[in-house]
Amino acid sequence: MNPFYLIPHTPDPYFCDRINETEDLVRFLENGLNITLIAPRRYGKTGLIYHVFDKMAEKREEVELFYVDIYATNSVDDFLAVFTEAIARVLKKESLVKSFLNILGRFRPVISQDPLSGEPKFSFTMDSDADRRYSLKTLLDYLEHRPTKVVVAIDEFQQIREYEGMSMEALLRTYIQPLTNVQFIFSGSRKHIMADMFTYEKSPFYESATLYSLDKIDKDVYANFIKEQFEKENKHITDEAVDFILNWTRCHTFYTQSMCNRVFSNVQNEARLVDVLSVAEAFLRENNDTFLERRSLLTPRQWKYLIAVAKEGVVNEPTGASFLQKYNLGAPSTASRVLSSLTEKELLLETKFLDGSSYCVYNVFFSRWLERL
Ligand SMILES: Nc1ncnc2c1ncn2[C@@H]1O[C@H](COP(=O)(O)OP(=O)(O)O)[C@@H](O)[C@H]1O
Ligand SMILES: [Mg+2]
Repeated sequence: MNPFYLIPHTPDPYFCDRINETEDLVRFLENGLNITLIAPRRYGKTGLIYHVFDKMAEKREEVELFYVDIYATNSVDDFLAVFTEAIARVLKKESLVKSFLNILGRFRPVISQDPLSGEPKFSFTMDSDADRRYSLKTLLDYLEHRPTKVVVAIDEFQQIREYEGMSMEALLRTYIQPLTNVQFIFSGSRKHIMADMFTYEKSPFYESATLYSLDKIDKDVYANFIKEQFEKENKHITDEAVDFILNWTRCHTFYTQSMCNRVFSNVQNEARLVDVLSVAEAFLRENNDTFLERRSLLTPRQWKYLIAVAKEGVVNEPTGASFLQKYNLGAPSTASRVLSSLTEKELLLETKFLDGSSYCVYNVFFSRWLERL
């Protein structure tokens, strides 16, 4: 059994750390707060949400938990569909689903079955914005009147900014504000957008939730976790090997898990540095075509800039003379445009500090691949 999970809903013994974060979030929820959870992609937001839900369920508190992933939604109608599915998944009991569907009947949902999970799939085609408003309100009212408290996690929340037509943000805020029985976790990876939604005075969601940033898992904590997971399965990994993994993946959760998962499956007894190195090579090789293709989506200048950042690892002064000269990247004004477009495309990740920002290539494997060019 491989102890390194690659899916967000990781059961407890295989879930690394996040002890303080879990405690914080559970406490916020117990105290009636809404939460905005922000972290770069693949740090572990979704995993943490599921973990918090598991903890709350364990405590047997009277609470109903709904998880809604809106990553793939492009419209209010899509949003309503995934929201409905999330509710139906939790209600499960036939009679409850029926009464819930009665409420929805007016909106003529098309119901089908997911061929893989067997769970109900919904789709809506609303005739008017009035119908959209009314159906959203109906769904939220339904939750408001559940006999127990309700927590709804909306994952990839920034996606509502992509919807065309009516402002989903304003609409949601209007209906969410008066709710007393329903709390929300809004989770997202686009920091600028999320911050804008929740801290900009003119945004509908201004100050409506506690902002919570999720960091990387601490390196020493992760190192211990990795060693323990090997030992529990009667295998062993050397300190040197663990150290290489965590440096090479920069402790970025998803990449660390992927490496560990592969290393674990490759070795019979002991994982040494050579084993880890060969897994690193394999990942780069397997991604070669995908990474090469990205080149055609960029201008030569952007490509060159990306390689320069990868070679540096982390860049603190991305338009500073020394960086630009070292890699022959042209004038600061040009570099600054390239920088913002690469950040916008999520090829570069910006990390803000008190006195500035640093940049690295967002996808760690891509970064390791680029640095060799
Ligand atoms: N605390 C953790 N312990 C072990 N693996 C984790 C942990 N958090 C996340 N992961 C792993 O990392 C992957 C990415 O995490 P995820 O929660 O999907 O990130 P995000 O939602 O921030 O994009 C998950 O699929 C899971 O395998
Ligand atoms: Mg996620």
